[in-house]
Amino acid sequence: MGPIVLSAVACVRAGVTLMVIHLLLGGSLDVITFVAFLIIGTRIFDPLTTALAGYAQFRYSEQAGERIVQLLREPVMQGERQPPADHDVELKQVTFGYLDQLVLRDVSVSMPAGSFTALVGPSGSGKSTILRLIARFYDPVKGMVTMGGEDIRAMDPEALLHKVSMVFQDVYLFQDTIAGNIRFGRSDATHEEIEEAARLACCHDFILKLPNSYDTMVGEGGNTLSGGEKQRISIARAMLKNAPIILLDEATASLDPENEAEIQKAIDRLVRGRTVIVVAHRLKTVQHADRIVVLNHGRIVEQGRHDELLSSNGLYARLWRRQHDAGEWRMTL
Ligand SMILES: Nc1ncnc2c1ncn2[C@@H]1O[C@H](COP(=O)(O)OP(=O)(O)OP(=O)(O)O)[C@@H](O)[C@H]1O
Ligand SMILES: [Mg+2]
Repeated sequence: MGPIVLSAVACVRAGVTLMVIHLLLGGSLDVITFVAFLIIGTRIFDPLTTALAGYAQFRYSEQAGERIVQLLREPVMQGERQPPADHDVELKQVTFGYLDQLVLRDVSVSMPAGSFTALVGPSGSGKSTILRLIARFYDPVKGMVTMGGEDIRAMDPEALLHKVSMVFQDVYLFQDTIAGNIRFGRSDATHEEIEEAARLACCHDFILKLPNSYDTMVGEGGNTLSGGEKQRISIARAMLKNAPIILLDEATASLDPENEAEIQKAIDRLVRGRTVIVVAHRLKTVQHADRIVVLNHGRIVEQGRHDELLSSNGLYARLWRRQHDAGEWRMTL
């Protein structure tokens, strides 16, 4: 808005000046009035421009302030207990909706400590929502989420977040250096630890190629990096955090084969020995999961191992065949 206001004022100023020159040349304006116009005009236009630009800035700040006040008004999440040492996670008859419409209905799933669970299903079926409930971004309307057998609503939210690392579907990077963005995983990490996490997450090599290596500034939202690179930075954050529970939301955007292979390598290292819950869009990445949970319209329609689900010939088998056929089709091109 600021630059638009300034341009409008500059146009008006140029227009008025041209008109006054026209009047002066046409003889309708005497020189004294013209000089007076120049002096008074400058004195009026400059403060007017400043005032209008200041007003635009004021409107911006007002809106930002409103959002901050809104955030401060949000009730503080309750819960004091320290999370237990056991890292199994369970959803017990969970029902949830963001607004009026229910997004999850009566969902029960048990994820033992150290196991690998995959959530699959059509777009909008509620996969990412399950991850958000486990990280306690929201509380269920009915039922509960437990960790080590205890309701996570009774736990200190800060301590709970230390137990969980999340790699989001759409990675958001902050306007900071690459090292600063990885350090979000653990604020007291040394540079050596950041570099080690980046190596494990297959980012070290591409970071070294950036103009200032680890000190390169990332634009807001990370728009100077590719989708695959952002995902790997986010995996490096999770490596650094070293939490016992990993929530991983696979990117939906298609990646080139090289990026895909690097990300898979980074993920394999990240998930070793932890309780892992992965939202998978590419079914071939979760064939070896301990349990595959198939969602449709917010309900669990099937769960089991890959072979069991294929032989039961339900939604999973259909999704698998569709992806497999698409893969075959690509290969024969
Ligand atoms: N913040 C939100 N506010 C309102 N509705 C939402 C919000 N986030 C998700 N939804 C709705 O909840 C439903 C489930 O969304 P969710 O993100 O869990 O789906 P998903 O299975 O992860 O889909 P995808 O495979 O496309 O990522 C969708 O209908 C979606 O539109
Ligand atoms: Mg999703």
